Amino acid sequence: MGQKVLVIGSGAREHAIAHALQRGGSVEEVTVAPGNPGMELDGIRTTHIAQSNHAALIDFMKDNGYDWAFVGPEVPLIEGIVDDFAAAGLKAFGPNRAAAQIEGSKDFAKQLMERHGIPTAAYATFDALEPAVAYVREHGAPIVVKADGLAAGKGVTVAMDVETAVDALDDIFVDHRFGNAGAKVVIEDFLEGQEFSLMSFVNGTEFWPMPISQDHKRAYDGDEGPNTGGMGAYSPVPQIPQSVVDEAIETIVRPTVQAMADEGTPFTGILYAGLIATADGPKVIEFNARFGDPETEVVLPKLTSDLATGISAILDGETPEFTWDDDRVTLGVVLAADGYPTNVVKGAKIPAIDVDEDSHVYYAGVAKDEAGELVASSGRVLFVETSAPTIKDAQDKVYAIIDALPTEGMFYRHDIGFKALK
Ligand code: AMP
Ligand code: GLY
Repeated sequence: MGQKVLVIGSGAREHAIAHALQRGGSVEEVTVAPGNPGMELDGIRTTHIAQSNHAALIDFMKDNGYDWAFVGPEVPLIEGIVDDFAAAGLKAFGPNRAAAQIEGSKDFAKQLMERHGIPTAAYATFDALEPAVAYVREHGAPIVVKADGLAAGKGVTVAMDVETAVDALDDIFVDHRFGNAGAKVVIEDFLEGQEFSLMSFVNGTEFWPMPISQDHKRAYDGDEGPNTGGMGAYSPVPQIPQSVVDEAIETIVRPTVQAMADEGTPFTGILYAGLIATADGPKVIEFNARFGDPETEVVLPKLTSDLATGISAILDGETPEFTWDDDRVTLGVVLAADGYPTNVVKGAKIPAIDVDEDSHVYYAGVAKDEAGELVASSGRVLFVETSAPTIKDAQDKVYAIIDALPTEGMFYRHDIGFKALK
């Protein structure tokens, strides 16, 4: 009998996790809670339980004989879902509440890095407007202002002049734009270089890095427009040399895993290091306590070992094995609803999308209308991923699929991967 696994979350990331679990071979049944109706096109089950309803998720696991859960998004992790599952005698893969602070509080992460000499931008933390403004005026621009808590990627202002930074501080402290998330603010030095994402499986003391990837956070072509959750990704990132990745593993991932263990908050789960390759070596922009979205949708398709076997080994205290296809490039593009990220217009019709066996569609913000047809129901609607021998080939292939679709009511970037081709 194979394993039964519950995936918690509803986006394209969770679709990619569920799909990877399903194709690995050792899983008999995957259910996603709450999931979305697009996942059903892959034969993935969904159940209408909110990710915040820990008690109902626990009941589902027990009633249906599920072996373990994979927690996709950060919010349930930060709210302690792994602790609640453990208290109920159930296994969930992800950090507990204490370890999830590495994402939940930028101040926690910055202090940890400072104590352990992990390279990141110099910073200061403030809980009131006036000293924060004074610091910005003294320091000058460019400078970066970050709301301390979770703000869904929208709490960061990269200010190229002092007045923009002061406006951002006003938003946080005077207009309370981020509510509690803005009760504290981190102000840090501006770092220059290419960003990349380095994710690792972690078992508390050891880690297994994945191939690196690069997200595209701005809404429009050429990195214009507002910050989003991410508009497309590809892997690997050839302009980041392997020596920089190796340096990041030794100077960032290893000491961070060690520091969390040494300080009594060992991290188990997926540690996402958002890095920037500066002239001074790789530095941390942010840590996340989970798989990245959309990075996961281009990284997991490269996994050649069985995801469920690897994770259950970690959950059982054994040594996991993860192997990757390093020969092919994966690249994918988000279709977003018009107006995303500020004023999402829902209801766009989702076309049927035919893809070859090297490509896949991962669904996110989709719902069924009264006629049972899929329509857009939130900002990021779906993700089309493909693999090919080169980045250019992968781009050509993915845009041949997307450009042929009726995408009225949605938009997408036309240049995913452009930094690798410059
Ligand atoms: P975060 O939410 O911390 O990932 O920040 C969102 C985006 O802001 C990042 O992806 C970077 O593009 C940019 N950013 C954050 N911190 C810095 C920094 N210290 N220097 C330059 N850019 C930054
Ligand atoms: N793609 C960035 C993130 O998942 O936070």
